[in-house]
Amino acid sequence: MVPDIGLIRPPLDVSVPRQAFSRAERNSVLRLSNIHKAYGSRERPVSVLADVSLTVDDGEFCAVLGPSGSGKSTLLNIVGLLDRPCAGEMVLGGTTISHDSAQTTARLRNRLLGFVFQSFQLLPRLNAWQNIAMPLMYRGVPRGERKGRALEMLERVGLSERADHLPSQLSGGQCQRVAIARALVGEPRLILADEPTGSLDSATAGEMIDLLGALNRELGMTIVMVTHDRDLAQACGRRIELLDGRVVADSAAA
Ligand SMILES: Nc1ncnc2c1ncn2[C@@H]1O[C@H](COP(=O)(O)OP(=O)(O)O)[C@@H](O)[C@H]1O
Ligand SMILES: [Mg+2]
Repeated sequence: MVPDIGLIRPPLDVSVPRQAFSRAERNSVLRLSNIHKAYGSRERPVSVLADVSLTVDDGEFCAVLGPSGSGKSTLLNIVGLLDRPCAGEMVLGGTTISHDSAQTTARLRNRLLGFVFQSFQLLPRLNAWQNIAMPLMYRGVPRGERKGRALEMLERVGLSERADHLPSQLSGGQCQRVAIARALVGEPRLILADEPTGSLDSATAGEMIDLLGALNRELGMTIVMVTHDRDLAQACGRRIELLDGRVVADSAAA
């Protein structure tokens, strides 16, 4: 007979007192230390990120700003475990990322991260709720529960009545709402958005920023959003500026 694990659970581990951690360490979702990235050959490397160090705490809404080619997407792809740095350390959700197994990396990505892209990246043959449910399918959540959670997320982004619509039957703003719901459905620690308003007109872009802002305030979602739009970035509590692959300004440090 399997014993009740409540009876055999060891006493609470008190070997590491909580106060041993600084406040920043306890609450950080992401810590990058001296990240470097270069493309090109070993003989002629082209540096894209140089010595990037920053920490993002739970509940922050950060904008990453910078001109085209400054390394914003490269940085987001590294944080999103879609690319790996040449040097430096990254701690995501308390786990030091080693990139030694693609399977582990994929699992961490599915558990910890939600993605929003400029081009929405919805699957054209799946309707709105089925697109939203995709990250749950990879986790093996049963279909009925997937649908229920997807519909809840659709309601949260204000699109309940479009559950059965295909992406081709939705406007750009509605597609991006579906993509935001898909990013949220797995309850990630961090949402990464790369130019999420880049394909939208300015009024719809404003609505999308309002939605992300509400998710940050009301659900405490931590969001890192790349944008080159300074006006939109004003909605973010923190602005990190990149230039030639270096952090040249960070309003949190000001
Ligand atoms: N896969 C790649 N191979 C070679 N160079 C790349 C690659 N990805 C990005 N780069 C280069 O890295 C620099 C930064 O790109 P990127 O991170 O996309 O900038 P941003 O998103 O700020 O516009 C650019 O000069 C770009 O050409
Ligand atoms: Mg980019």
